[in-house]
Amino acid sequence: MKEIIFFSLPGNEKLASQLARKMNTDIGNLTVRHFPDGESYVRIQSEVKDKFVVLVCTLRQPDEQFLPLYFLSKTAKTLGAKKVCLVAPYLAYMRQDKVFKTGEGVTATYFGELISQFADGLISTDPHLHRIKSLGQVYQIPTRVIHAAPEISRWIKKNIKNPVLIGPDAESKQWVSEVAKKASAPYTILKKVRLGDTDVKVSLPELECYKNATPVLVDDIISTGHTMLETITHLKEEKMKPPICIGVHAVFAGNAYQELQAAGAAKIVTCNTISHPSNAIDLSDILVKAIKSLVPLL
Ligand code: R5P
Repeated sequence: MKEIIFFSLPGNEKLASQLARKMNTDIGNLTVRHFPDGESYVRIQSEVKDKFVVLVCTLRQPDEQFLPLYFLSKTAKTLGAKKVCLVAPYLAYMRQDKVFKTGEGVTATYFGELISQFADGLISTDPHLHRIKSLGQVYQIPTRVIHAAPEISRWIKKNIKNPVLIGPDAESKQWVSEVAKKASAPYTILKKVRLGDTDVKVSLPELECYKNATPVLVDDIISTGHTMLETITHLKEEKMKPPICIGVHAVFAGNAYQELQAAGAAKIVTCNTISHPSNAIDLSDILVKAIKSLVPLL
């Protein structure tokens, strides 16, 4: 295996050290901070010459993360790094995959072009692939995508008796059906209409036959939480049990997490693609496999 060194951008320390430990390699030292005027400062304090540099940086709040990431990648190359691979367990901008209103741009594409200019490879978890069918459509570098579904199914099997899985919209069918199959559980998919950032309407199909089951809401991203909040309201009206809310990516914009707790979610569970107290499903083993399969190709 080529000589690899990991670097963790701020907020990614736990996952980065898990990955480095499982790959039996080092975590490099670096400084990332802001100057008083708000400009970004980065400094690499470990030897990177002739090494494969893996930057671990989840892309929640991507605008803030982007420049330090860019500067680090360029600096590593200047210091002699062979290649730079970005591990972004949560990949931003994937939902802007079409022009929804006149005058908008397809920012998923623009963001992909930018990252492809300074990273040699990209690994991510369940990027929001809907109208864009694969990362290769918007990224011009080798990529690997890992899927959380098998680990989510395992968690459900171990922790929930008599579950019924609920997907909030047609887009979620791809992963909810897979999670349900592997968890040997039934599932149903709702119809969702998004009227604005925080204005979401969902309609529930007939749930009478699942009255004794534990509803498990499964989505890729929990952002404002409104998709799940709206669903919880309907489940209450239908006198269903309090649901378990599972998201792959714990984006939780604003007070979304607290609002979901207050709305009566029995438990909120996420994968460790974004560090958060709700992380209960560890994806580090499958990320390691992806790193091992991609780095030799760079
Ligand atoms: C949408 O297409 C995604 O799959 C999620 O359903 C969505 O991002 C959830 O957003 P929010 O938590 O803001 O309702």
